[in-house]
Amino acid sequence: MAVLRFPEENRQIDAEDEIRASLAVLGIDYERWSLDRVSADASADQVLAAYGEEIEEMKRRGGYVTADVIDVNSATPNLEAMLARFDKEHTHSEDEVRFILSGRGIFFFHIQGRVASVEVGPGDLLRVPQGTTHWFTLCEDRRIRAIRWFQDTTGWTPHYTDSGVDKGYQPLCFGPAYLGPRVETTISA
Ligand SMILES: [Fe+2]
Repeated sequence: MAVLRFPEENRQIDAEDEIRASLAVLGIDYERWSLDRVSADASADQVLAAYGEEIEEMKRRGGYVTADVIDVNSATPNLEAMLARFDKEHTHSEDEVRFILSGRGIFFFHIQGRVASVEVGPGDLLRVPQGTTHWFTLCEDRRIRAIRWFQDTTGWTPHYTDSGVDKGYQPLCFGPAYLGPRVETTISA
């Protein structure tokens, strides 16, 4: 279940309907999907097969051409470098669509002069339109498994805004466990 926060306004929203309505105002789709299709140790292929119908429906809705399963944890090689690609404010030229199977992460959105964070966990689906200014990192256990959809098979690249806005926000996750100090890593993309 997600948690939506507006840090400047000291406002936190935990109710699913309210989260959906508030994110819809920002142009972001939020849904809850069932997790009972597969066991926790299912392979990526098993996950894609189990959610095949929903995956195809989402492709039709958004014009996505492919889907995969991303699996990131503390043992993932170059994890810090990977996280550092996405924890600075950026946009994409295609939608960012994620259905979280396990683990937790936190998205920040910078829209119409406001910053909102959405902590996502198992069962949460977010559809962030192309061009939305955002950043993302993992919660303290540094683990996430998610289905992703793509509009373009040629790649999915962050376009950095270099606004520095992201530096003003700690990625506070539920618990209140958080990632700790920002990891400053320079990546040549
Ligand atoms: Fe992104």
